[in-house]
Amino acid sequence: MTGNSRKTLRSQEWFDNPDNPGMTALYLERYLNYGLTREELQSGKPIIGIAQTGSDLSPCNRHHIELAKRVRDGIVAAGGIPLEFPVHPIQETGKRPTAALDRNLAYLSTVEVLYGYPLDGVVLTIGCDKTTPAMLMAAATVNIPAIALSVGPMLNGWHRGERTGSGTIVWKSRERLSAGEIDYEEFMDLVASSAPSVGYCNTMGTATTMNSLAEALGMQLPGSAAIPAPYRERGQISYETGRRIVEMVREDLKPSDIMTREAFENAIVINSAIGGSTNAPIHLNAIARHLGVGLDNDDWQKIGHEIPLLVNLQPAGEYLGEDYFHAGGVPAVVMELMKAKLLPNPDAITANGRGIGDNCKDVENLNENVIRTVASPLKEHAGFINLKGSLFDSAIMKTSVISPEFRERYLSNPDDPEAFEGPVAVFDGPEDYHHRIDDPAEGIDEGTILIMRGAGPIGYPGGAEVVNMQPPDYLIKRGVHALPCIGDGRQSGTSGSPSILNASPEAAAMGGLALLKTGDRVRVDLRKGEANILVSDEELGARRKALEEAGGYHYPDHQTPWQEIQRSMVDQLANGMILKPAVKYQKIAQS
Ligand code: FES
Ligand code: MG
Repeated sequence: MTGNSRKTLRSQEWFDNPDNPGMTALYLERYLNYGLTREELQSGKPIIGIAQTGSDLSPCNRHHIELAKRVRDGIVAAGGIPLEFPVHPIQETGKRPTAALDRNLAYLSTVEVLYGYPLDGVVLTIGCDKTTPAMLMAAATVNIPAIALSVGPMLNGWHRGERTGSGTIVWKSRERLSAGEIDYEEFMDLVASSAPSVGYCNTMGTATTMNSLAEALGMQLPGSAAIPAPYRERGQISYETGRRIVEMVREDLKPSDIMTREAFENAIVINSAIGGSTNAPIHLNAIARHLGVGLDNDDWQKIGHEIPLLVNLQPAGEYLGEDYFHAGGVPAVVMELMKAKLLPNPDAITANGRGIGDNCKDVENLNENVIRTVASPLKEHAGFINLKGSLFDSAIMKTSVISPEFRERYLSNPDDPEAFEGPVAVFDGPEDYHHRIDDPAEGIDEGTILIMRGAGPIGYPGGAEVVNMQPPDYLIKRGVHALPCIGDGRQSGTSGSPSILNASPEAAAMGGLALLKTGDRVRVDLRKGEANILVSDEELGARRKALEEAGGYHYPDHQTPWQEIQRSMVDQLANGMILKPAVKYQKIAQS
């Protein structure tokens, strides 16, 4: 704890450095031109950035434009000076080819801002899927005091008396549209009903997952993540967040003090309990790598797999964001886990300076239908499995969304209850899938395993959320609603398909998926954690050689400069999809 001697603030190097009056004057004068005074900038007040991820292009986070006013009030009330700045927009539903391509771009530009400007601390406005990891990754690299503020989920969606959840309603209604049960107009109405207010996806998709995990990691004030965007409590926590970051600067409480290995272990456990998205391992592994904390997909299975699913939110369950908030949000989940001694590190420090266990131990679970107890969970063993084999070195399966139907059809061979096997239909990217899936000549039936490749961080720059593939229309009409899917892309957190995804290395990096041919047989053993191609090693070796001679797995051309730059240096999904050259730059504000 440093107290607040003037020279401990890094902003003083810009604004109050008598050793270099020329530069000080130059730095200072332009910040006066809209009304700040010399006294403010030279009185040793912490200067606090507000990293603004909201804009008209980013409707999920757009409400942060309003909330930032309350953040500013809090910063000023605590004796700081707010300086708000824009972050490169990342709108999950609006960016082509995929918003994930922009996570690393927003990360890079935010690192430059946090490092290169006179900021003593920062409020990271988070929300829509990739905004949360981009901000936490940047804070990790620079390591100035930082606190995250969720924009909060949208209100619950309703249609004819039923909850309609973001994304999940699209997957469900698309099937009904395919089956001819609803028409185009009703389909559009249904989907629109799931977005009734400002805020991010109200399901347990990637956004609710990552915002909950930002709190689980200790980077938000307790209880912050689940507050719906339009609620008054959202404005109030914004004010408290602004106040708190000024104190964090005075205490010199940095991201590396909060996001420790212990905090990540807590986050993995909490991710299982909330039924978090399969995008979480990608993003948390990325944040950890930028901090120099060891974390990989084996940790996710080891620490997370046994943990039961407690939070009854769509897609795994039935409720939505408002229900989650009213039941008690992340603190109530943590309390339930602690009661059962399942939280590994209750002492891990959070943004308010107290341990997460301390913050949550006296919290009440206000609705045990929405947040179950460990004694009566929604599902046992809700964490991810990390699969390996000749198909890939690592791929994730979210077992909590495996349907009873799927279990029955694929996992109930009494001789081998945890394994399934079948011929594959191989698709090279989403366009190829849409082109071929409904063609009966492809011969896809209820025993087929669907393969999506060319959809990883290199093949489809950023990695496409396309592994959850719908069966052909003719199978859906026969009542087959899901086929097992395996792929090197990602899957939307709002989807409930039994998929094996994030396969690393991807086909474009010459992983095993590149060698598959339609009609090959594949065998997956969930108990052993294996996924193998049932083709001889000689044959696979010959295929690899032929493919290499043909110049490797073919993927589409770059469309923008950033696509080319990112493809040239991006790591695989299992390794967080980070920019490889960036990892060596750690805690740069201290170096
Ligand atoms: Fe932005 Fe889901 S699309 S949070
Ligand atoms: Mg998504």
